[in-house]
Amino acid sequence: MNIIKVKNYDEMSKRAAFIVASQVSIKEDSVLGLATGSTPIGTYKQIINIYNDKLIDFKNITTYNLDEYYDLSEENEQSYRCFMNQNLFNHINIDKKNTFVPNGKAENPEKECKRYDSLVEKSGNIDLQILGIGSNAHIGFNEPDDKFAKGTHLVDLKQETIDANARFFKSKEEVPKKAISMGMKNIMAAKKVILLASGENKAQAIKSTIEGPINPSVPASILQLHPDVTFILDEDAASRLNK
Ligand code: PGA
Repeated sequence: MNIIKVKNYDEMSKRAAFIVASQVSIKEDSVLGLATGSTPIGTYKQIINIYNDKLIDFKNITTYNLDEYYDLSEENEQSYRCFMNQNLFNHINIDKKNTFVPNGKAENPEKECKRYDSLVEKSGNIDLQILGIGSNAHIGFNEPDDKFAKGTHLVDLKQETIDANARFFKSKEEVPKKAISMGMKNIMAAKKVILLASGENKAQAIKSTIEGPINPSVPASILQLHPDVTFILDEDAASRLNK
């Protein structure tokens, strides 16, 4: 496990963007696993800057997002599809046909989950997975539970996740209560994982993830078993670590 401590959000974003840029330049048909939320927005901005400097090319890149709200159409501006278009895809030369987000409007979510898993597997698994982390240590929408979910699955969001995400919606009532999330199998099968965290509200989740026992009540703790995981933490997120 590799831990990089940086000063602040801006430095975290630059470090992460460099890693993504080197992945894309080393392997021009890389498969990237992408995350949404406030944390990776700065990384996506930096990636766009590097792209605008003509240093990287996304023509042959494929992406899989971790999750999507259930029963929200992709036209809804709070959907993660919309988020990705606005924060990254509309600004780089990626072919949108090669960008995948679970279909939150799927009539049969179980079938959609299986379809998503087989798409990821068919593309040879993810080369580089970007993760944020919830203050309850969720990754994707793998919420604390008594077991780790293996495949893509329909999740009941925890109240703390609904509360945390309410800031993006007009009211708490509008926040979807369910989501489709990639499970741990695809995340753990990624060849390389980077997890980004910024801010005091992530400090305890980071401490339990890195220093605590591996337990599904701390979903991100499973990353202790990943052979190539890098945590990029700002000072506040790293503040409770022993060293
Ligand atoms: P955030 O969310 O980046 O908006 O803090 C992270 C997450 O819930 O995974």
